[in-house]
Amino acid sequence: MIIHDQIKFLTDEINHLRSDGKKLGLVPTMGALHDGHLSLVKHSFRDNDLTAVSIFVNPIQFNNREDLKKYPGDLQKDLEKLGKILRQNDLVFTPDVNEMYRDPVTHIFDFGNLNKVMEGKYRKGHFNGVAIIVSKLLEIFQPDKAYFGQKDFQQLVIIKSLVKQLDLPVTIVSCPIVREHDGLAMSSRNVLLLEKQRKEAALIPETLFSAVQKSKSLSVKELKRWVIKRINNNPELRVEYFEIVDNIELFPIKSWEEKKEKYGCIAVNVGTVRLIDNVKFPE
Ligand code: PAF
Repeated sequence: MIIHDQIKFLTDEINHLRSDGKKLGLVPTMGALHDGHLSLVKHSFRDNDLTAVSIFVNPIQFNNREDLKKYPGDLQKDLEKLGKILRQNDLVFTPDVNEMYRDPVTHIFDFGNLNKVMEGKYRKGHFNGVAIIVSKLLEIFQPDKAYFGQKDFQQLVIIKSLVKQLDLPVTIVSCPIVREHDGLAMSSRNVLLLEKQRKEAALIPETLFSAVQKSKSLSVKELKRWVIKRINNNPELRVEYFEIVDNIELFPIKSWEEKKEKYGCIAVNVGTVRLIDNVKFPE
């Protein structure tokens, strides 16, 4: 693998490697890599000749300083993991903040409702920060495809909208959630959980999967109440929101009869660690 931390050298390398029309897949990450990230890399291997992974903890997408401070990260460990799967001409980009943000950041994107609900409501400015860094990375790499995990369901919907707004010639590929043995969605934040919290956190996916079954007998309103109550009954867990929305506008679903792709999206505070997850309901 080839590692760069400067845009100039990276883009020279990309131009050289792609001179004969090779297809490039980009996997943007904030490091603290786990098997979920590695599955994105494997998806990219399937579709492209070259794969690039970016590792950059983007400060402007953290609405909370403490969250940024405690965000896990170990570049050496990440590079070791990538070294085991990336091939000779695959790329890793590890810029620092000065490299990515030479000029002050002022751009404000308009995502309408997409940014007003769920994560957008509880993490002000988060998606604007995501959109800024993702548009920068897409501009630098000019990939054919870029890979994102479905755990960040709302992020995916917003990135698809960003690519449309900016007319970027890239295909956004959404990859299935990778889960731990007990169902907990893989997340860089899972390592921050204390042992007991980590154990109890399995109630989140368990409840989401049971909710899909319960949707056969409960109304949308009843089901939402059932999910929130079941999780909040556990003293380690506090639901911030649970919403059932469509995958285009992220409008709340009112009835199971609506002919839309429906997702139940949840954010739960486990002590000071905030976890998100989602599940698809039958159409
Ligand atoms: O999902 C993430 O890890 C981040 O939000 C992303 C897409 C790498 C942008 O910083």
